[in-house]
Amino acid sequence: MEKELTIAVLPGDGIGPEVIEQAIKVLDGVGDRFGHKFTYIKSLIGADAIDKTGQPLPDETIENCLAADAVLLGSIGDPKYSDPTLSIRPEQGLLALRKTLGIFTNIRPVKAYDRLLGLSPLKDSLVKGVDFTIFRELTGGIYFGEAGRKEEGRFAYDICSYYDHEIERIAVLAFEEARRRKNNVCLVDKANVLESSRLWRETVQKLHAQSYSDVKLDFLYVDNAAMQMITNPIRFDVILTSNLFGDILSDEGSVIAGSLGLLPSASIGDKHCLFEPVHGSYPEAAGKDIANPIASILSVGMLLEYFNMKEEANAVRQAVDYCMAKSILTEDLNPDVDYTCSQLGDVIQALVSEEEGINTKGLKEGSSSII
Ligand code: NAD
Ligand code: IPM
Ligand code: MN
Repeated sequence: MEKELTIAVLPGDGIGPEVIEQAIKVLDGVGDRFGHKFTYIKSLIGADAIDKTGQPLPDETIENCLAADAVLLGSIGDPKYSDPTLSIRPEQGLLALRKTLGIFTNIRPVKAYDRLLGLSPLKDSLVKGVDFTIFRELTGGIYFGEAGRKEEGRFAYDICSYYDHEIERIAVLAFEEARRRKNNVCLVDKANVLESSRLWRETVQKLHAQSYSDVKLDFLYVDNAAMQMITNPIRFDVILTSNLFGDILSDEGSVIAGSLGLLPSASIGDKHCLFEPVHGSYPEAAGKDIANPIASILSVGMLLEYFNMKEEANAVRQAVDYCMAKSILTEDLNPDVDYTCSQLGDVIQALVSEEEGINTKGLKEGSSSII
């Protein structure tokens, strides 16, 4: 059945606009092939919004996001706003948007592609077959607790606070996802030290006993989890964790995939949803057409999956798998056979537009030319 979706598109800063352009190409390819209509409403966020309006999240952007079926975001952040004494910063826009939309669960899948094994600094034998997903709490914890300065600015604090209901609602989604995957949830916390982590453990254990005792549940302290993600990543299925720990562990997870430019994410709540790459604005690459657009393209795949367009989501994932298998890669993964960001977007758009599945004609393996 044909669908119509209004998507608020927030390209943001740095490489954001370049990678989002590729994601939209791919969505358009999907729309043409499957007969769906995607309407895009572009809005400002981050440093771009500060430059143009003085605010990192203008009211108009909030209105557009609240009214849309989904939000597609590039990345925010610019070195010109990194001075720690500034009171208005691009990152505030993203955090305020997540809070306003109530998107409390951020899902960040990590998978190793066979063809890329040799590109990871980790041994092939450790990385092969790794496929896990991080359920990162996104609207609470130390990111949103009381923060401030005292004693003429010489003392600073950021409080990590959680309510049990904030933990329970994401834990429900993590257990449900585990049932669809390998039935294994690992709660990552620091319960040996932090009171808030002890509330996570208590709440998750209680929920497990009440409603999810069929799912295997284990626990790791975050320091140990960071180590095991590198020494034994195959052990993980669904990692459930708080806001800050999830942020750090997901960038670490990108080493398994081969590049931060590969990791997509979906953020969901009761009413709204947002899709964005895990990476940031990578300012060094801005405007050079060298960034990897796959993280944004796979985020579009997650959007399609969220709206139950399974065949469409599969077409996107298969096109990406095809490019990985044929070494059609940007320079972060293979400087010898690099495609530009926009060339890779063109290739994937062409692949998802194919009625008969993937047609290999016209693509030269490992070459930077699209014939
Ligand atoms: P970053 O994610 O922008 O880049 C870190 C490194 O990852 C880069 O140097 C590059 O080697 C690699 N990388 C990232 N994206 C890539 C891509 N698409 N293709 C190829 N390689 C890629 O992190 P940073 O340098 O610490 O932060 C830069 C800015 O981005 C900061 O202002 C930060 O606050 C912001 N940031 C925003 C988001 C977001 O918008 N969700 C996420 C992280 C960081
Ligand atoms: C991310 C980013 C953000 C976060 C920053 C830019 C606010 O690192 O999306 O992973 O810490 O959540
Ligand atoms: Mn991050």
